[in-house]
Amino acid sequence: MFTEGSPGRYDAAVFVDGKALRPDGQPGTVVIPPAFGLAGVNLHTSTGWGGVSHWNAFVANLEMHGQGTFYDPRLNDPLKFPVAARAGLADVRAEHDLITSKLPALQFYQLALDAPRPPVGSFDPRAAQSGKEIFTGRAGCARCHVAPLFTEPGWNLHAPADIGIDDFQAKRSPDEGYRTTPLRGLFTRLKGGFYHDGRFKTYEAVVDHYDSVFGLRLSTQERHHLVEYLKSL
Ligand code: HEC
Repeated sequence: MFTEGSPGRYDAAVFVDGKALRPDGQPGTVVIPPAFGLAGVNLHTSTGWGGVSHWNAFVANLEMHGQGTFYDPRLNDPLKFPVAARAGLADVRAEHDLITSKLPALQFYQLALDAPRPPVGSFDPRAAQSGKEIFTGRAGCARCHVAPLFTEPGWNLHAPADIGIDDFQAKRSPDEGYRTTPLRGLFTRLKGGFYHDGRFKTYEAVVDHYDSVFGLRLSTQERHHLVEYLKSL
């Protein structure tokens, strides 16, 4: 049941809403979010469907054709999630539940996966130290990316306008937001691009985006320091 897409990308929402394409005709796939560094983080997927255990239960029931139990009444919305509503995915009840007993160990294991450290020499430590001050100070990044989780403790989801982007992918999720990405191990994501759909190909592009959305007026040197800090996480 895989939809098209390149390695590292996937469209999970197509199983519930049947929309394979974005308004511009491109595939509605997103970058698969990291499975590490999630302990302490509330919402684990990029549009904030839930935590890993919600996701594990949903996917297991989908792949194993409903041989367990899954309940999420938000999916029972024929306008927003026509495929899910038709298939009864909001309330799956198997006679012999083969899935639910596997959820605790799987979640425990996943939350134990720590984020990898960036390789020595992959960033300039002094510039990163100045970048940290910009991140927590004048650029206001730490308002949402709260150390050491680098996301908000609590309900870590934002309206698209909060970060100055379109709402296409957000609208395909129950709460219509984008999750504040936990930033540890960020260097591993350079390949697929940053943000849920990989729209920003470089660290500089992300920083430039925030600079214009938040009107930060960062100098060239401040941008460079901020980028070195991002590489160090
Ligand atoms: C209002 C809350 C908020 C603020 C302030 C904020 N961010 Fe974000 N950040 C987010 C959200 C939400 C996302 C997820 C966007 C998406 O997936 O489309 C994100 C994503 C990112 C990503 C991409 C991570 C990835 O793996 O794709 C980076 C890098 C980042 N932010 C850095 C910063 C920096 C640097 C600043 C300060 C200039 C900042 N953020 C300020 C909420 C915020």
